[in-house]
Amino acid sequence: MDAKLTDNVFWVGYVDWSVRDFHGYITSRGSTYNAYLVKAGKTALIDTVKAPYVAAFLENVKAQVPLEQVDYIVCNHAEPDHSGGLPATVLACPNATVLCNAKCRDALAHHYDVSGWKFQVVKDSETLPLGGKTLQFFDTPMVHWPESMVTYVVEDALLFSMDAFGQHYASGFRFDDESDLCEVMQEAKTYYANIVLPYGRPVASTLARLGGLKLAMVAPSHGVIWRSHFGKILEAYQAWMVCKPAKKVVVTYCSMWNSTRVMAEAVAAGAEELPVDVKLIDVNATSDTQIVTEVMDCAAFAAGSATLNMGLMPRMAATLTYLRGLKPVGKTGFAFGSFGWASKGAEEVAQYLQAMQMKPVCEPVTCRFAPDAETLAQCRAAGRALAEVALKA
Ligand code: FEO
Repeated sequence: MDAKLTDNVFWVGYVDWSVRDFHGYITSRGSTYNAYLVKAGKTALIDTVKAPYVAAFLENVKAQVPLEQVDYIVCNHAEPDHSGGLPATVLACPNATVLCNAKCRDALAHHYDVSGWKFQVVKDSETLPLGGKTLQFFDTPMVHWPESMVTYVVEDALLFSMDAFGQHYASGFRFDDESDLCEVMQEAKTYYANIVLPYGRPVASTLARLGGLKLAMVAPSHGVIWRSHFGKILEAYQAWMVCKPAKKVVVTYCSMWNSTRVMAEAVAAGAEELPVDVKLIDVNATSDTQIVTEVMDCAAFAAGSATLNMGLMPRMAATLTYLRGLKPVGKTGFAFGSFGWASKGAEEVAQYLQAMQMKPVCEPVTCRFAPDAETLAQCRAAGRALAEVALKA
């Protein structure tokens, strides 16, 4: 596949077709660790790859330039999926200087033995003339880590956007216009929900800050490169960074002897009385990766748990803990669940929803053992109330 972005700018990364678990994020379509080579009067590598794939990465670099001719290795982000190959790359490129910001240098020193490395620390907006091409560096703190930065090739209007606009998406194609755009956008959404969601405010600041740049191409550190449809992903980011709600109700549940499942079905049936998108999700049958992707753009969220050992079901606890960390904002919530002798499951669910600042649509609905007709009517009414909220989105 064509690895050339512009004159003398090449993709030299690694396509990871088999990765399925990215510290808990289920990467059903694999991923790529994108790295790039800018050849001008001087030569700069932009990032490296995950440590196990550094040999393949160095072969890609060697196909374009002898390793002795690499002058700079830019490290936009210290997370090991991009910096893991850095120690081996520094060894392989004897004339290279590692170029990064001060926070990144500090982070690298806490990851690796950097005692023999040559560093050049750059400040926000600083430029580096390579001779024919100019690199410019912009700090983008918390998109995704505190030291994150992006690199811009001024002459090509090309932005190496690091994690931003990325997708965990393995492909033989390098560019958005060669790929199935529906798949790419779905993976971009999943990526945003599972990686970027807590950082809506820093994303907004970054987009505002970089908004003045001319952008002919945006090359993230994962997935395909945006050269024809950047407007589409940018528009999506504007919605995702504020969790812009769709007319959607998500009902999740974790049942023991089917009582909470029957309650969840009643909540969903109530929501379906109105023309909104309703998702009914058994957390035992669905990954948290998928669940948070659905929750990110819902208007209303319900969670039900049976009570086990005086608490909520462990699988629901895992889902809600994951969601709480990712901080979806602006949702209306509803807690429910059955119990045997102490109503603790729904109580703890309600505490999670409160921690996520979800506005309760009504008091939690609980029942002892199996739900009766009155309980199911309450669940149905709660579902309809959630849909009324969603309908206004
Ligand atoms: Fe792809 Fe935050 O690393």
